[in-house]
Amino acid sequence: MATVKLRDIRKSYGKAEVIKGVDIDIDDGEFVVFVGPSGCGKSTLLRMIAGLEDITDGTLEIDGARVNDLEPSKRGIAMVFQSYAIFPHMTVRENVAFGLTINKMKKAEKDAKVDDAARILQMEHLMDRRPSELSGGQRQRVAIGRAIVRDPKVFLFDEPLSNLDAALRMDMRMEIGKLHQDLGASMIYVTHDQVEAMTLADKIVVLKDGLVMQAGAPMELYHEPANLFVAGFLGAPSMNFLKVSVEDVGEDWVQVSSEALSSVKVPSKGRTFIKGKVATLGVRPQYLMAAQDGRGMLIGKVILTERLGSETVVNLAVADGSKLIAAIAEDAVLVPGDDMAWTFDPALTHAFPDKV
Ligand SMILES: Nc1ncnc2c1ncn2[C@@H]1O[C@H](COP(=O)(O)OP(=O)(O)O)[C@@H](O)[C@H]1O
Ligand SMILES: [Mg+2]
Repeated sequence: MATVKLRDIRKSYGKAEVIKGVDIDIDDGEFVVFVGPSGCGKSTLLRMIAGLEDITDGTLEIDGARVNDLEPSKRGIAMVFQSYAIFPHMTVRENVAFGLTINKMKKAEKDAKVDDAARILQMEHLMDRRPSELSGGQRQRVAIGRAIVRDPKVFLFDEPLSNLDAALRMDMRMEIGKLHQDLGASMIYVTHDQVEAMTLADKIVVLKDGLVMQAGAPMELYHEPANLFVAGFLGAPSMNFLKVSVEDVGEDWVQVSSEALSSVKVPSKGRTFIKGKVATLGVRPQYLMAAQDGRGMLIGKVILTERLGSETVVNLAVADGSKLIAAIAEDAVLVPGDDMAWTFDPALTHAFPDKV
């Protein structure tokens, strides 16, 4: 087990800087997920930690020692990729043992390690098969097995579930969560899928354009997003955003309104608002409710309803032309075309001043 520390880590390809000064701390045994849209630099960061990419600038420490220039095999890490990278002509056993075989480990010791990994991954019955006789999920388990037998201090995963179909992805997600519980190893997991990030992580690092937008516990980021990007990225359906103007500002509140929204006082959460300026008010779909007594805060015309079983997702059009989403009880009956009054708890909103 190990700690990993990134300090002002940068990466340039030619003149293009793609990682622009990143600080991240990974505690011993922590499960950290790097999440962000495609191209934000997740794989590049992971590959620099693994030693597969040079670090242009900054310091990378594993267990307190600078490892910028240490070769990959000496870093005590093992990496699992999206493409399973297993050998088709080898059995599962040979694939899992591969790294140990090339390091000339003695057979008895090697067998013990491979059997141990097979047990942890519940694939004892698959050990004599070839990859062509395995499902996608089983192939990925082989790749994970190959990482486990190396006893790494840190596991690195780069979108390991992206090639799997939705149902299998959920199963494997739970297996990886269980693996972390069983092994207690430090793990860094890269994904563009915010559900994987929310469900697996002790700590989420949200990345955008080579920069950390916010890092913290999943529910901390969900409830207290530091900026619009994180607010919109975590949570499904995504948070609604309304353009509003700032009417008044108090010590810990700001009063806003718009063509669509009647005047409401919401928490300002330490952010600076200026009277007369434009701001964005975020309301999660789960917190938008049909107003019971006609005292709604906005009128939303029902455009479309989607019944998901556990909840119903309603698409609404409001007076300023923007579209909102409400996630409401599964048995609600709504009529498309109806103008309905909607409300929300102001304490559960997120207001951000617009940059001018
Ligand atoms: N070998 C490379 N040469 C030039 N640019 C690269 C190279 N690898 C990645 N990039 C660029 O770096 C950025 C981050 O890429 P990557 O880390 O793969 O993103 P992610 O994994 O988040 O989708 C992208 O803009 C990508 O085009
Ligand atoms: Mg990637």
